[in-house]
Amino acid sequence: MHRSIAALIDAQESWAKPIGEQVQHWLAAVFDRTRPAKDVLNGTWLGHPLHPTITDVPVGAMTVAALFDVTGQERAADVALATGVAAMAASAVTGAADAVDAYDKPQVYATVHATLMVTSVLAYTGSLAMRLGPRALRPLAVATSMAGYAALAAGAYVGGELVYRQGNQVDRHAFETASTKWKALDVAEVPAGRLVKAKAGVDTLVLYRPSEAAPIEALHGVCAHAGGPLDKGTIVDGCVECPWHGSRFRLEDGHVMRGPAVYDQPRFEVRETAEGGLEARRVVQAG
Ligand code: FES
Repeated sequence: MHRSIAALIDAQESWAKPIGEQVQHWLAAVFDRTRPAKDVLNGTWLGHPLHPTITDVPVGAMTVAALFDVTGQERAADVALATGVAAMAASAVTGAADAVDAYDKPQVYATVHATLMVTSVLAYTGSLAMRLGPRALRPLAVATSMAGYAALAAGAYVGGELVYRQGNQVDRHAFETASTKWKALDVAEVPAGRLVKAKAGVDTLVLYRPSEAAPIEALHGVCAHAGGPLDKGTIVDGCVECPWHGSRFRLEDGHVMRGPAVYDQPRFEVRETAEGGLEARRVVQAG
């Protein structure tokens, strides 16, 4: 069954791609001017994506509202539904901050997900308006909110696919073993003031030496957000800035200082070998 559903989602690309790109263009114009606010919405301050921490609220509230509707508890259903609409608005804002940095297939999935959620919130808002109107509209209001629930469930499914199958907004370093063995680097020199790419076993690192007298700083070279090459980035305020979406990681400890990344970058220590080469090992940090 999941293959048929995946094929159905993939088939939406013809309309979802151009619409998604246009909406991304508008969103980028807003978020580029409000970068700190975008970091809050992405969850950079929390060290965890904010969107999925909020989305459980509307799904739960709308499930409860449907149960109250079915069992004839009108007042409780209306309160639950109003709560769900407010939570959907908060979810939409955080989701927009994430979706603006999605490309290729994840961008298509994000657009389908957003379209279903907008359809759902419109249905629920209409239902809420009818619930506040004449009593004769009550059956139509309940039917409309059930249609909204169907769109909500479908949107939640696509959102799950976006994360679990497309790997959007997951930590790119989640599956690495945190080995602390020293491994030889394939570079022998790190000129001051330049980002240098190096291999340590299977790991790609980015090295930086602020001055000739300073020790070498080293982070994993693959951005935790979406895999951008940090060696192609720039140094800003003691951080390396990813060239793809501008996340910043502090060189001294790998901490994420600006989103859209929400996870820290693995840090490595570097030393000279007796033979005059360089070797590195991962520094295991809490969390
Ligand atoms: S890949 Fe997105 S900020 Fe690095």
